[in-house]
Amino acid sequence: MAALANKRILLARRPEGMPKPEDFRTEEAPIPAPKEGEVLLRILYLSLDPYLRGRMNARKSYAKPVEIGHVMEGGTVAEVVESRHKDFAKGDIVLSYSGWQIYAISDGKDLRKLDPAAAPVTTALGILGMPGFTAYAGLLIIGKPKPGETVVVAAATGPVGATVGQIAKIKGARAVGIAGGAEKCSFAAQQLGFDAVIDHRAPDLAERLKEACPQGIDVYFENVGGHVWDAVFPLLNDFARIPVCGLIAQYNATPPYPGPDRLPVVMREVLSRSLQIRGFIQREFADQRPVFYKEMGQWIREGRVKYREDVIEGLDRAPEGLIGLLQGKNFGKLIVKVQ
Ligand SMILES: NC(=O)c1ccc[n+]([C@@H]2O[C@H](COP(=O)([O-])OP(=O)(O)OC[C@H]3O[C@@H](n4cnc5c(N)ncnc54)[C@H](OP(=O)(O)O)[C@@H]3O)[C@@H](O)[C@H]2O)c1
Repeated sequence: MAALANKRILLARRPEGMPKPEDFRTEEAPIPAPKEGEVLLRILYLSLDPYLRGRMNARKSYAKPVEIGHVMEGGTVAEVVESRHKDFAKGDIVLSYSGWQIYAISDGKDLRKLDPAAAPVTTALGILGMPGFTAYAGLLIIGKPKPGETVVVAAATGPVGATVGQIAKIKGARAVGIAGGAEKCSFAAQQLGFDAVIDHRAPDLAERLKEACPQGIDVYFENVGGHVWDAVFPLLNDFARIPVCGLIAQYNATPPYPGPDRLPVVMREVLSRSLQIRGFIQREFADQRPVFYKEMGQWIREGRVKYREDVIEGLDRAPEGLIGLLQGKNFGKLIVKVQ
């Protein structure tokens, strides 16, 4: 019988509001054996992302929920430790979607080989992966920033927001960031090159944002919703574009939601200011990924795009990491070093 050497973290129950450590359960299991056409993967790095909160709910969404008692999902970087698949060899490093566990089996369909000499492999989970692509596609295809326009984005030191701000600068726009706390704000201004950065915890957020956007806002890349949206909304210019990427401020909200219903006011302004509000899930733009890899790789090599990773050690810390992410405790792309 196989040794019990795989460790996996399962969804133990559906969270009410902010997830708690008890919503997860750790179990040991035998290391699985690959069949013909499969590989055995040893997970090196696990990506923690805001969408995981949505997967913990039973509610219908763009992707299926994680079932109770199943392994938590997640993007991973892994090493092929045994291969019975013609396209993969022992020692290959791959991007996979293996979730919160140490060993996993794959039939190869969801794998992408990584070249550790080309870029640190963790970047496949961040700047050169799903979050970087989200920023690239959402900003360029929906936001369409023009030189001299003002682009605003929150969660400005996270992998999506930081990338949005830097691409906006490359396209000649003015980038205004919103972030939580003085340290993140100064990093966004000094290291990422935002023209202005506002702390969303400041009591006078709306006034400060107005000062930072004297010409109004042409592109608001919506990452958070909540009180940040309230501050942004009055400043939107005619014909402003609003790629709706994420609403992290409400991921833990439970009904009934606080009122009053502001939809009539929002719709009136959508009409009178010709606002374009467009939600998206990055995978709809999957055909743009080859262009993204090329262009983003180039920008990184030229030092025009910088990235920051926040790496925590040990699979056991994944629940704590995800809970922290939903409270803004991460500082950069949050990754768990599993091995
Ligand atoms: N549509 C898509 O295809 C797609 C793909 C990837 C990501 N997303 C979305 O993009 C957004 C950013 O993702 P990411 O991976 O770059 O995350 P991230 O920035 O690494 O982490 C989330 C950040 O959100 C901020 N935050 C948390 N709670 C908040 C609140 N109540 N109010 C305001 N800000 C809050 C915190 O930053 P501060 O401390 O700076 O506030 C936190 O660090 C998320 O909404 C995510 O769901 C969408």
